[in-house]
Amino acid sequence: MTCPPPTATLRPGQLRDPFRLLMDVTARHDGLVRLGRGPLGVYIVSHPDYIRRILVTHSGNYIKGPLMKPFRTALGNGLVTSEGELWKRQRRLMQPAFHVRQLQLMESVIVAAVDRAVDRWAAAAETGRPVDFLDDCIELNVEIVLGALFSTSIDPARAQRLRELTSEVFAGLASKVWTFFLPSWFPLPGVIRYRRAVAALDAEVHALIAERRAAESTPEDLLGLLLDTVDAETGAHMSDQQLRDEIFTLFMSGYETTATGLTWAAYELARHPEIAAKLAAELDGATARPRPTFAELRSLEYGKRVIDEVLRLHPPFPIWFRSTVAADDLGPYHLPANAKIVLNPHMTHRDPAYWSDPETFDPDRFTVGRFGTEQRHAYYPFGKGSRMCIGERMSQTITQVALSAFTGTFEFSVAPGFEVVPQYVVTCQPKGGLPLILRRR
Ligand code: HEM
Repeated sequence: MTCPPPTATLRPGQLRDPFRLLMDVTARHDGLVRLGRGPLGVYIVSHPDYIRRILVTHSGNYIKGPLMKPFRTALGNGLVTSEGELWKRQRRLMQPAFHVRQLQLMESVIVAAVDRAVDRWAAAAETGRPVDFLDDCIELNVEIVLGALFSTSIDPARAQRLRELTSEVFAGLASKVWTFFLPSWFPLPGVIRYRRAVAALDAEVHALIAERRAAESTPEDLLGLLLDTVDAETGAHMSDQQLRDEIFTLFMSGYETTATGLTWAAYELARHPEIAAKLAAELDGATARPRPTFAELRSLEYGKRVIDEVLRLHPPFPIWFRSTVAADDLGPYHLPANAKIVLNPHMTHRDPAYWSDPETFDPDRFTVGRFGTEQRHAYYPFGKGSRMCIGERMSQTITQVALSAFTGTFEFSVAPGFEVVPQYVVTCQPKGGLPLILRRR
């Protein structure tokens, strides 16, 4: 016999900080709670068994659904937002662009961007003035993702424009995401600005595609690969609209996520200088300066554990969405058809049933012996199942290289008096950035 999940009622005022509200509500229930009543209600899921059913064993019954609607207004039918046969075809076509061989072609782009960031940080260390580490990591990752997508087609002014437009789109999306609590007619601030930013970004991306189609040679970058890709079943190339959607998607999913993870890594290492020193000791002797080569990354086991632990405590996407097609049962609970679901890794990653002392930053919980089947089951910063992140390896590589360069070169602390408060802006970032004071090691 199943029953409806427990329900939490929204109180006026709680919407001022919807992210806090989600976390508070989930903390008081056992892995599944319904928030709100009627058609506006959502089911918030964090129990690892239910997450596995949704993302892996019964994923056919769980589509991205209406909560992804705001994202479709920007990303169209790209890989993150598409469903069914279109998604299957696009994933098949795009997977080769993320293979190890392709990633190796990106080594020079990644290394050059990290070296430039180290130079900027070194200059700041000389002056003693704080750097905005979040902003620097965004700049670093914009450079890398644009380099990987378009190689030489982007000059600094165009990169800056793309970055500004994308942050406006993100800001618009972040406020739109919370409309799942509100009726669709509710007037939202910033809608016109958001639409303008999407239209301008649209024009930029179409121009980049047109320029590349007109060019005589095709560089070995992601755009080149996508342009050359032919569907083995139909013999067709991607249409300009599909290319636009995929490029938008890769750009928007690519830079902010990795930048956010790196920023939380720096925050945790600043709070735990003994862990930063251990990481620097691993780098000493084992790697080239100022940063490791791709070949050296494999030997950085402690560094890898640090990153895994950062993504446990601070998954850059703390929530994302699904919807049921037909009614389904999650454990003892019944979900109707078309139920809107919020997946909540932020809470799963802090569930004391799976993680001892979950609020403590402890990279060694990822050592063999401590990180077993139970913990693997309750860990999914990059998702699970067939729709898992296509950029995981790329992101992990960038993070390892950049974090090694940073920790191997500098000691750092959060600027005195600055309070770090998490804020949901599609990814979860420290509000107001992360001001760090740097000293050369
Ligand atoms: C720390 C960095 C990153 C995190 C935490 C992250 C997280 C995720 C998560 C949780 C999903 C699954 C969403 C779902 O099931 O609905 C996802 C999907 C996706 N990610 Fe990432 N991501 C990261 C970096 C990247 C990068 C660097 C790229 C590409 C340049 C990328 C591209 C994508 C795409 C295209 C999808 C959709 C895959 C599909 O549905 O087939 N991500 N990511």
